Amino acid sequence: MDEVRERMLEMVSKAESSEQPLSWFEDLYRYSKRDREQIPWDWKEPHPLLVEWSNDNEASGRALVVGSGLGEDASFLWKRGWSVTAFDISEEAVEWARHLHQDTDIDWVAGDLLNPEKGWTGKFDLVLEVHILQAIPEEIRKRASPNLAPLLARGGSLICIGRLADESSTEASGPPWPLTWDFLNQIGKELEEVEKYSAFIPEKEGKRYRAVWKKA
Ligand SMILES: C[S@@+](CC[C@H](N)C(=O)[O-])C[C@H]1O[C@@H](n2cnc3c(N)ncnc32)[C@H](O)[C@@H]1O
Repeated sequence: MDEVRERMLEMVSKAESSEQPLSWFEDLYRYSKRDREQIPWDWKEPHPLLVEWSNDNEASGRALVVGSGLGEDASFLWKRGWSVTAFDISEEAVEWARHLHQDTDIDWVAGDLLNPEKGWTGKFDLVLEVHILQAIPEEIRKRASPNLAPLLARGGSLICIGRLADESSTEASGPPWPLTWDFLNQIGKELEEVEKYSAFIPEKEGKRYRAVWKKA
């Protein structure tokens, strides 16, 4: 296991035994001292499954990027003409992303998907979640995921992207915890299903899903 992952797992384990199991995200961002090599999930570019979706779907409006990390997906959407709000539970990630993408007018906010801002309900034409649900423990994931759909405006799209669980796999040790279609179907159960897609991403050696729903 590489050093960066080993350090991350130590932080995860410490946080799990505290009263704030998600606090390790802030710990890790702060520990990195703004060296992107220390952030194991940083692809330094927008997710290819988001780029592909955007190429196939000419759309714009108000977008909300959930768990925006270092902001590559938010910045990509902004460059494609979306008006973007991006939030993350880590204040350091938010400040770092603001600094990295200062050529944009993205609204960067520190916030928790477990308790999204009340004023966001029904406001967004696009809600995007990339690699967050798979990074949080199941018990928290089950409470957080129902908060995505209510953020959509009428006609808006919800996109979730992440690692797809291999049905034959018994992998239990995360993060990340690859997700099953059974779990993902719950997220959009009150929305219209547009797409359930999966692809092998060679450079990331893994199967990723893209699930898209629309609010009628
Ligand atoms: C694996 S990282 C992915 C970051 C980014 N989406 C990407 O793809 O590079 C998960 C991100 O979700 C954030 N996060 C975790 N739990 C969250 C929550 N409850 N609300 C908002 N953000 C959260 C973390 O701070 C972290 O930046």
